Amino acid sequence: MCGIVGYIGKKHRAQSVLLDGLRRLEYRGYDSAGIAFHDEKKVISCRAQGKVAKLEQKVLKTEKEGVVGIAHTRWATHGKPSVRNAHPHRAGKIHLVHNGIIENYSLLKKELEKKGHVFTSDTDTEVIAHLIEQENKKYDFEHAVIRAAAKLQGAYGIVVMHADEPQKLIALRESSPLVLGIGKEAFILASDASAIVSYTKRVVYIDDGEMVVLTPHEYHVENMERIKQNKSEEILQWDEKQAQKEGYAHFMLKEIHDQPHSIADAMRGRIDVAHGTVKLGGLASVSDRLRDIKRVIFVSCGTSYNAGLVGEYMFEEFSGIPTEVEYASEFRYRTPIVDENTAVIAISQSGETADTLAAVREAKSQGALTLGIVNAVGSTIARETDAGIYNHAGPEIGVASTKAFTSQLVILALFAVLLGRQRSLSLVRGKEILAELAKIPKQVEAILTQEKAIKKLAKKYAKYENFFYLGRKYNYPIAIEGALKIKEISYVHAESYPMGELKHGPIALIDKQFPSVVLAPKDSVYDKTLSGIEEIKARSGKVLVVTTEGAKEVKRHADDVIILPQTIEMLTPLLAVIPLQVFSYYVGVSRGLDVDQPRNLAKSVTVE
Ligand code: G6P
Repeated sequence: MCGIVGYIGKKHRAQSVLLDGLRRLEYRGYDSAGIAFHDEKKVISCRAQGKVAKLEQKVLKTEKEGVVGIAHTRWATHGKPSVRNAHPHRAGKIHLVHNGIIENYSLLKKELEKKGHVFTSDTDTEVIAHLIEQENKKYDFEHAVIRAAAKLQGAYGIVVMHADEPQKLIALRESSPLVLGIGKEAFILASDASAIVSYTKRVVYIDDGEMVVLTPHEYHVENMERIKQNKSEEILQWDEKQAQKEGYAHFMLKEIHDQPHSIADAMRGRIDVAHGTVKLGGLASVSDRLRDIKRVIFVSCGTSYNAGLVGEYMFEEFSGIPTEVEYASEFRYRTPIVDENTAVIAISQSGETADTLAAVREAKSQGALTLGIVNAVGSTIARETDAGIYNHAGPEIGVASTKAFTSQLVILALFAVLLGRQRSLSLVRGKEILAELAKIPKQVEAILTQEKAIKKLAKKYAKYENFFYLGRKYNYPIAIEGALKIKEISYVHAESYPMGELKHGPIALIDKQFPSVVLAPKDSVYDKTLSGIEEIKARSGKVLVVTTEGAKEVKRHADDVIILPQTIEMLTPLLAVIPLQVFSYYVGVSRGLDVDQPRNLAKSVTVE
């Protein structure tokens, strides 16, 4: 959600570094963008509605370069996407970019207006710039920033520049991600590491309540009491190539095709088939507490929530631990009843989702064991949970999550086996699950060879405006994920139901124009799913079935069929979701949509 970048260095290259950073952060929000840089004479500022490419055209015309600058790509919260609401915002000599939400902005705005400040946008952000300007009348730049921050309520990652101080850049964080990259002759600040990795892999993660002050030669970090903080540097483990399209038309398609590798990476070095168990190094520090866990709650949002739903089936069946799944945004406002024998497991690709982070903090404050299943190394959720497991899926750029989801499912399966083996899961069953899991990457590869056929089906179904996605047991969450994917990418209305619920109301919608995508692998609920399909056919509904090899009966009733390789029931979600991702992708492409940056969405939602 909103990408922010800052640059300060010995060389005049602020403009090019910032634009490059924005291009890489564009997946966080893309309704408008802006940049301001100091060419040692004055601040040059450009803003544009729409994508970064539009801004770029404007900026290049300036033919200027700078030693210091800030930039922003926006996902609108307060005020429509427009040039006047695009960042950087300015108050006098203060230029600022912001990621987050200022909750008390209207009160602050009124106070500032009484003091004569004139506002030119509808944003909450502009208030911060005016507050700093106000404080700067009495206090120096750094002090003014700290004093302004003390008045703010909400979440913010900000980077601030002063027209009279081209040798300085200040950034501050409260509940919104901020990373500092340390280059040879420059420093780069960003809301996530993808804007930094091509310049340097040396990073410092800024924590809540910290301010970083940069000059072209050095940096230091202080807390709000102005006490210097000792920060340790970390090395990013990213390969820059992972964040490129590598010849694919979209990141989403590339990431779908990454899955045989990303699934293998999620289990690499973690499975011990011979002993029917798994090694999860990130959980070693809490292994004793895990033995005493009596209850599990998954907290997450979006696609990660759907992974949790699959995890619920896995955990209950194989570890015998009562398990629930909660939308993080609801968990935080209920009165969650947790204790030290409850594990609250946050699932998050980005590790920065504001609701999920707040749920972790709430669970922690009540004494629960907090764990993370996180893809982004060093992210806030990864750092704030008691322990966790990294996905190792590499950067996911496409806004609709694909490879992160399947890697989450792998980790959930591993985790279920770990907990199960600590309890009553037999060696034989443990071995069987892991042996089947090891086959999944090749099976995913095999499914992807059907891409052309699925593309044809997508073209055929692209004309429909409504879909049901139906499944039972392990594949009910995959129906939910399939429906979410087609909504995100194709703007098609899709509803998901457990197949058994269809007859309790939704079936009233079925007609020739309302097709159903049904997940019907040959598993323990196959026959029941078949009856559901017959009920749809009896009402002239079209049915596209995703099933497994050897399921002959289903073919008789289906209009179209996609066949998956056979695996054990708990692992079918890992295979069944693949054709649904490909299907949504091609429906979106057939409709001429921007599948990597769908309207209204953002990849990393760091506001409430
Ligand atoms: C946003 C994204 C979704 C994602 C969700 C949770 O809504 O558009 O694709 O599933 O956030 O993100 P997380 O990073 O916590 O998994």
